[in-house]
Amino acid sequence: MDLNVKTLTLCAKGDVAEGTAIKVEAGDLELAVYHVEGEFYVTDDVCTHGPGSLSEGYLDGHEIECDFHNGRFDIRDGKVTAPPCIMELKTYRVIPDDTMVVIDPS
Ligand code: FES
Repeated sequence: MDLNVKTLTLCAKGDVAEGTAIKVEAGDLELAVYHVEGEFYVTDDVCTHGPGSLSEGYLDGHEIECDFHNGRFDIRDGKVTAPPCIMELKTYRVIPDDTMVVIDPS
């Protein structure tokens, strides 16, 4: 166990229905928590193209589509999968936990 890793607990896994995303505010961070095929993923909530809130977008498998201009990202690695987005989305490592969504916020 690495004692230098800081963790941040965001929500209960049960708070995020399969195939959906929710917004979670934690300190200065505005995050989107996704639940896809039994796995949880966490990214910044604000789109890198503008003010779109990705948790209010359309989740299609492992892709999130921003509802402002329809840019898309892969929630697993933050890579852009459709324009007009250019900049990658920040993703966060999810730390295994039985009941809660916990991340490494660094
Ligand atoms: S603000 Fe998200 S695609 Fe433009």
